[in-house]
Amino acid sequence: MSYARALRCRKCGQEYPLQPLNRCDFCLSPLEVSYDYKAMARGLSREELAAGPRSMWRYRDMLPVEGEEVDIGTGFTPLVKADNLGRELGLDRLYIKNDCLNPTYSFKDRAVSVAVSKAREFGFDTVACASTGNLAASVAAHAAKAKMRAYVFVPSDVEPGKLVGAAIYDPILVKVDGSYDDVNRLCTEVAKRYSWGFININLRPYYAEGSKTLGYEVAEQLGWRAPDCVVAPAASGLLFTRIWKGLDELAMLGLIEPVNTHMYIAQAAGSSPIVNAFNAGSMHVNPVTPDTIVKSIAIGNPADGHYALMVARQSGGGACAVDDEEAIAGVQLLAQTEGIFAEAAGGVVVGVLRKLAASGVIKRGELTVASITGAGPRTQEILADIVRPFAVQPTIESVEESIGALVRSA
Ligand SMILES: Cc1ncc(COP(=O)(O)O)c(C=O)c1O
Ligand SMILES: [Zn+2]
Repeated sequence: MSYARALRCRKCGQEYPLQPLNRCDFCLSPLEVSYDYKAMARGLSREELAAGPRSMWRYRDMLPVEGEEVDIGTGFTPLVKADNLGRELGLDRLYIKNDCLNPTYSFKDRAVSVAVSKAREFGFDTVACASTGNLAASVAAHAAKAKMRAYVFVPSDVEPGKLVGAAIYDPILVKVDGSYDDVNRLCTEVAKRYSWGFININLRPYYAEGSKTLGYEVAEQLGWRAPDCVVAPAASGLLFTRIWKGLDELAMLGLIEPVNTHMYIAQAAGSSPIVNAFNAGSMHVNPVTPDTIVKSIAIGNPADGHYALMVARQSGGGACAVDDEEAIAGVQLLAQTEGIFAEAAGGVVVGVLRKLAASGVIKRGELTVASITGAGPRTQEILADIVRPFAVQPTIESVEESIGALVRSA
C-alpha cells in the first residue's frame, strides 16, 4: 500500500489529487507528492526494508505506486569503497554509488520505473519524454516491458550510441533540430495537445520520486546512516534535490539519525547555470546556452535549478564546475583507479570532487559519496584519442619487437 496522499504545490502549499499534473493552477510552481509520514513510520522498519527485493522496489512503500510496478530490475546498485581513487584525491572515506549498473545504464531507470508504473495506473497507453539521451533509452525500455507505445524526443546533437541505446527498444524516436531546451519547449506544447503520459511533464512529480531511492540505498548500504558529503551531477537539478529528500525522509521516519549531509552540485563549465547562480550568491538561475561535450547534463534552463540551489545552500554544501578536459580526465581517473567506466557526467563528478578535496572544502576524513549516474560505453567518441593499440603480426617475434621493451621494463 502506498502512503502517498496528495500532490502539493512546493510554493503555496495548495493540494491536488494524485493525478497526472505537474503545475499549481494558482502560482504555476511545481507539484510534489506528499505522504502520510506518520502512518508510513508506523508501517516501516529497517529490518523489513532490508528483507525486501534487491532492487529499488524494496522501498515500494515509500513511493507513490499503487498498482503492479513496471520493473526491469532497477536499483540496489553497488556502493563501492573507492580506496584507490580516494588515495589520488586525498580522501580516506570515499564511496562511489555506481548507477551505471542499472538496466539501461543510468540512474534514470529509477525515476522512469515509477513514472511508467503511474502512467499505466492512470490508464495511459502511450508514454513520452524530452531527453538528453539517457531518459529516452529508459522510457523506451520501460514502455517495451509495459507493452505501451513510446514517443521519445531528443536533440539533434545527441550521441550516436545514445540513439542506438533508445532505438533498440523500438520507440517512436524523434530527433529535434535544436538543443535540449528547444526539445523541452516543444514537448510542453506537444503534451498540451495529446493525452500521453509525459514522463517529465505531466508525470514529473512521480518521476521525481523514483530518484529518492538513490538516497535511500546509500544510507542503507552505509549501515543506515547519511554520508557527510554527497557530490552529484545536475542537469534539471531534480536528481540532486531527490537524493536529499530521500535522506531527509529516512531521518523523518526515524530510520536514520538526523541528516547533516553537505550536498555538492557538479556541472560542466559549458553548461553551469546552477553553479553560476551559487557563485553569484543568487537564488535565481539565469539560463545559458550549453556548449560542452557532457551532453547528458547540458540543460541551459534547469526546471529545478532553484530547488537544487536551496538544497546546496541549506545543507551547507556547494556547487562547482569543471571544463570538458577535466571531465574527460575524470572519466579516465575513475576507470584507471576503480575499474568503473562512466560517461562524461561521471567525469564531471570526479573532477569536481578533485577540486573540492584539493581546496579543503571536502575534508580527508569526511564520509563522501560520489554519485556516478551513467555508463561510458554509449559515448565512446569523446575518448577516441585513448585508443592506441600496438599492431603486431601473429608471431612471437612480432610481439617481442613491438612490446618487448615494455615487457622488459615492467
Ligand atoms: C547521466 C546523467 N546524470 C545526471 C543527470 C541529471 O539529471 P537531472 O535532470 O535530474 O538533474 C542526467 C540527466 O539527464 C544524466 O543523464
Ligand atoms: Zn502554488
